[in-house]
Amino acid sequence: MKLFIDTAIYDEIQEINQWGVLDGVTTNPSLVKKSKENFEDLIKKIAQEVQGPVSAEVPSGSCEDMVKEGRRLSQLSDHVVIKIPMTEEGLKATAILTRENIPVNMTLIFSPSQALLAARAGATYVSPFIGRLDDISTNGMDLIASISKIFKLHGIGAEIIAASIRHPMHVVEAALNGADIATVPYKVFKQMLNHPLTDQGLESFNKDWNMYLKGE
Ligand code: G3P
Repeated sequence: MKLFIDTAIYDEIQEINQWGVLDGVTTNPSLVKKSKENFEDLIKKIAQEVQGPVSAEVPSGSCEDMVKEGRRLSQLSDHVVIKIPMTEEGLKATAILTRENIPVNMTLIFSPSQALLAARAGATYVSPFIGRLDDISTNGMDLIASISKIFKLHGIGAEIIAASIRHPMHVVEAALNGADIATVPYKVFKQMLNHPLTDQGLESFNKDWNMYLKGE
């Protein structure tokens, strides 16, 4: 399973990219708001840093407006992906942009039927939101499993991005349930790295090594 970072904070992207683990980036209007940067400059800068798909979201609106905005954003870099919300107008816009070879990430997916529609409209990526389902006492991971089963059974090529990830086990379970990609917040990348037994092990190895060097 590939790993994207779910943030619009450039420093966070740069830091995690140095780990060598990033395959792409996803942003959304709320994340861009937090960055306080100019949207287009930010997307260009991110796309220079990460040589993989960078999702830039268009505001929900008419098909015509979303297509216009999607075409404009796709000019920012050859690996920008247009993120389009799951609405009727969004499906129409996805079909048009896909026919123009502009890749689309269909977002705000909360059911297998929405994922199927997104894939049939031509979306390259579908983004089911796990955490927001968990928040309302519904198992978000079941959604990943169902979409993955449907796509495999019917040879559907759209890639599943497990989004709205809240903790490391979401990442692990998304991988086990067939997600192609998990888009992971900065904080969760740090949590994935940490383990108290690694810290304890390092401490005792360092202690023993220093004693060895001193001939103790
Ligand atoms: O980028 C979309 C998604 O990952 C948002 O996550 O935490 O706002 O539900 P969250």
